[in-house]
Formats: sequence, structure tokens, C-alpha cells
Amino acid sequence: MPEELRFDGRVVIVTGAGAGLGRAYALLFGSRGASIVVNDLGGGRHGDGSSSSVADSVVKEIRQNGGKAVANYDSVVEGHKIVDTAIKTFGRIDIVVNNAGILRDKSFAKISDQDWDLIHNVHVKGAFKTTQAAWPYFKKQKYGRVIVTSSNSGLYGNFGQANYSAAKMGLVGFANTLAIEGNSSNIYTNVIVPTAASRLTEDILPPDFFKELKPELIAPVVAWLCHENCSENGSIIEAAVGWAGKCHLIRSAGCNLRKKMSDAVTPEDARDNWAAVTDMTKAKRCESIQEASMEVFEVLKELQENSSQQKSDAVLKHTY
Ligand code: NAI
Repeated sequence: MPEELRFDGRVVIVTGAGAGLGRAYALLFGSRGASIVVNDLGGGRHGDGSSSSVADSVVKEIRQNGGKAVANYDSVVEGHKIVDTAIKTFGRIDIVVNNAGILRDKSFAKISDQDWDLIHNVHVKGAFKTTQAAWPYFKKQKYGRVIVTSSNSGLYGNFGQANYSAAKMGLVGFANTLAIEGNSSNIYTNVIVPTAASRLTEDILPPDFFKELKPELIAPVVAWLCHENCSENGSIIEAAVGWAGKCHLIRSAGCNLRKKMSDAVTPEDARDNWAAVTDMTKAKRCESIQEASMEVFEVLKELQENSSQQKSDAVLKHTY
């Protein structure tokens, strides 16, 4: 039997853990020895109302299975209160799974300021507030694991979800930078992109597909990403139906739109070179902002060298 991955002594916050994916994460961590803060505001799917019952019922389930858990009913926008619950109850915090979420789907022209702000508050500000409150503990103990939850709606777009897509892609940028800032302190941040049956997807996904999309098939991927033996950092992991895969942004080799330094670049140069600009056959991922910038500097260097070569050729031609 391979050694079981355990979380004994670890304290985990799972936001929005009263239902759906969060509940599956909390139950799995609870069954592997971790102490869990089961956070859930207990509101409606669109961010309306609140109730303590969903968080309470998951805490009860974890305890009935022999695990340790405490409920927290604060909104993630007050994430420091969730971290306070972890510290007051269990004395530490090791893992934050930012999972809480709502939907306010409208076609773009109909999105109100409230639809926009609520979505950004819960998804983006919620992850910011909760993770930031845990960060000093992570830094001090030189250990932390952070999960943020994105969506295919962000990665690929989806009709009626401009507010949600923007927030979910915002979380990818957020995670990219936390992965860099936390790396030297053994704080790793990754993005999970789930597809699962829940109240958020019950009227969106076809029923036959829906029943196969069990949140329990995604929870093990999140658990592994949060384990101390896992060195993954700054990755986007898609998961569904027991499948998981890594997702990257890639960039084409591109094309220089001018021949020499003294050339201007015109809209016609962009048009005439567009096939080369968008040719993805040699596309690759840049591992860092430095690598992305270096390649552009290389293009500039080459152009400068070509220009000075052209200049000295011209001088030679003129002299002889
Ligand atoms: P769910 O509706 O079953 O669970 C979300 C939970 O978050 C609910 O229990 C809700 O009460 C809680 N919550 C909402 N606002 C909160 C707040 N301000 N503070 C604390 N708790 C709050 O939904 P599901 O599907 O489990 O979603 C979990 C996460 O996964 C969300 O971030 C969602 O956007 C994301 N997601 C889900 C997908 C799916 O296929 N189910 C696809 C892509 C992303």
C-alpha cells in the first residue's frame, strides 16, 4: 500500500465549505487528520441572505467521522475573521482554500454595478482578505498552501458571465503573483479550475453529464496541491470527473514588424505580418515576466545589430 497522504496537525480554512465543492474539500481534509474551519455564509446562489445551518451540518459530518472542525459564518470579504477563528480555535493556520462563490449571470449589456461589485467582492476581494490575513502566519512558520478557484468561464469565456469571467481571471493574476512572493517562504499558491455538480451548475449542465460531475472527484487534486510534499506552485489545474490537467498561457514566436531601427511601424505592417504574429506553431510558455521581457529585448538587440551592420555596410560601400 502506498503511504497515505496525511494532514495531521495542519489547520485548513475552506471558504464556502457548507455545500458543493467546498464541502467535499472539507470532508476530505477532515478525514486525513486536519483541523478544519468550515466557513460558509449560508446565503443564496446570487449572494442573497445568510444562514448558519450549512456550515453547521458540515462540521457535524466531519465530527461524526472522527475529525476536528469548527464553523465560521462570516463573509469572505471579512476574511480576517475566518483566520481569527482558526487561530482562536486551533492555534495556527496552514492552508487556505478560497472556494466561496456566487453567480449573477446577465448578458453584458444588462450587468448592473451591483452584479459587478458583488461578484468581485465575493470572489476576488474574498480571496484577498482571507489569504492576506493568513499570510503573516505562513511567512513566520515558513509553510503555507493557498488555493484559489477560477473557472472555465474565465479561461475561455462564457455567454452571460462577463462579471464572473473577469473575477475568475483576476484570481489567476492574483495567484501568479502570490506564487512568486511566497516561493522563498515555502508558501505555494495554485489555481483550481473545477467542473462539478452543484447548485451553481444544476441548470447549466446537461443532466447526464451533471450526475457524473461529483465534487469528491476533484477534492483529491486540491488535497494533493495543499500537501507539504507537493512542490507545485503557480499552476492552473483543471479538474473534473476524475481527470486533471495543467493549463498554460502560451505565446507565439511572433514577428518583428520593422526591418531596421529607423523604420516606423504602421497599421499596414501589422496587417501584412498578421499571419506570422498569430502563427501558433512555435508557441511556447514564458516561465516568468523576466523571460517574457528578455525575448523582446533579444528582438531589439537583433534589430540594433542588423541596423549597425547595415550602417557599416553602407559606409563601406560609400568608401570603396
Ligand atoms: P456552491 O454554491 O455549491 O458552493 C459555494 C458556497 O459558497 C455556498 O455554500 C455559499 O453559501 C458559499 N458562499 C457564497 N458567498 C459566500 C461568502 N461571501 N462568504 C462565505 N461563503 C460564501 O458552488 P460550487 O459549485 O461548489 O462552487 C465552489 C467554487 O467553485 C466557486 O468559487 C465557484 O465559482 C467555483 N466553480 C465551480 C464550478 C462548478 O462546476 N461547480 C465551475 C467553476 C468554478
